[in-house]
Amino acid sequence: MNPVVDILSLDHEGHGVARLDGKVTFVDGALAGERAEIAIYRKHAKYNSANAVAILEASAQRAEPRCRYFGRCGGCSMQHLEPSAQVAAKQRVLEENLVRIGKVRPGVLLPALHGPSWGYRGRARLSVRRVEKKGGVLVGFHEKRSSFIADMASCEVLAPEVSALIRPLRDLIGRLSNADRIPQIEVAVGEHIVVLVFRLLEPWSDDDAAHVRAFADAHHVQIWEQRKGPETARPFWPDVAPELSYGLPEFGLVMPFRPTEFTQVNSAINRALVSRALRLLDPRPGERIADLFCGLGNFTLPIARRGAEVAGIEGSAELVARARENALRNALPHAQFAVDNLFEMTPEKFAALGLFDKLLIDPPRSGAIEVVKSLPETGAPRRIVYVSCDPATLARDAEVLVHVKGYRLEAAGVANMFPHTAHVESIALFER
Ligand SMILES: C[S@@+](CC[C@H](N)C(=O)[O-])C[C@H]1O[C@@H](n2cnc3c(N)ncnc32)[C@H](O)[C@@H]1O
Repeated sequence: MNPVVDILSLDHEGHGVARLDGKVTFVDGALAGERAEIAIYRKHAKYNSANAVAILEASAQRAEPRCRYFGRCGGCSMQHLEPSAQVAAKQRVLEENLVRIGKVRPGVLLPALHGPSWGYRGRARLSVRRVEKKGGVLVGFHEKRSSFIADMASCEVLAPEVSALIRPLRDLIGRLSNADRIPQIEVAVGEHIVVLVFRLLEPWSDDDAAHVRAFADAHHVQIWEQRKGPETARPFWPDVAPELSYGLPEFGLVMPFRPTEFTQVNSAINRALVSRALRLLDPRPGERIADLFCGLGNFTLPIARRGAEVAGIEGSAELVARARENALRNALPHAQFAVDNLFEMTPEKFAALGLFDKLLIDPPRSGAIEVVKSLPETGAPRRIVYVSCDPATLARDAEVLVHVKGYRLEAAGVANMFPHTAHVESIALFER
């Protein structure tokens, strides 16, 4: 007989947390306040991992998952929780991390930034595999806790025009002679075009190429081929197509990008996030501002548009070249950019950059500890806006900013960049 447990809370990954004979048990598919029958699939020394096999008492916040692959596909983990409750849970994750790891509380909890809950993903990497047992080629995300690819024909969080391509892509690749030599497809949705980058371990034959061209024409997408690293990606068909770009209309900016370059996955929330970051940073003419981990200039160019002197620093030479081009394209030739490995920042290197009035920091998940440790004692930036995709590293860095560097955490809040997943995007304002 399966055990029955009461779910006491929700963990940071969206699992229900219960106690079974005193041992912590993480339950997939169960929500706080629920009573669930569970099946344990792994026993660890200090905890169990389990699936909910039946919900005996449901939470008022339980929602019907919209996607028929939910539970099997590893792309989403929270569709069974009301979107507004997901945001509340993410806010709690942020606050708990700040208190537990950072030993700080924000002066103000900013209202969460909301965007569309469905069809929001304009960036994705779809895996491809021929599986004869499944009747051909699978295209999609990995199954939960597995290297198998989910047998899916649509996706509710992908941009609808991309979701509609999953079935046709399966059919197309099934007809290609090199189907086994296409491990993945990178998707980039721009304002005027969808680009699909096929990773090719073996070139297309003439017949394959004809099928691929016909697919691109029929579905109004541009197909790129990538033989080796991302720098080898190039348009295959059609040769000439509308530019891949996104817009930041509040700042009168158009941001062209290559489909292999980093851009935020959710363009609606990105616009809201840039807008909030700029309101918090409040750049003014006469100020000198650094945008660290600047990518293609997503925050740098809006800062330049507000009339401040801005220096964007970023580890990828390709993205810095793109940021420079985008600055020229948007008539902001004074925005400065440099390539540097910010994980190797030191107080000496920071001092060599000169003094800054304000900083914007938007690091990858591993955070920006070397940057915050390198801030000078005197002449330090008086305001820092920190955009984070991992609340644990934000909290770790906040601890240094507040308890070592003398900043106050004035405000913090989440942006629902990745609805139905446990990823937490957040923004924090520090001042001294
Ligand atoms: C979360 S993205 C933010 C990019 C940009 N701010 C945006 O909004 O599009 C993090 C950026 O950090 C860059 N990065 C990663 N490791 C780095 C390093 N060691 N030094 C400098 N930049 C790095 C990545 O190339 C990426 O552009």
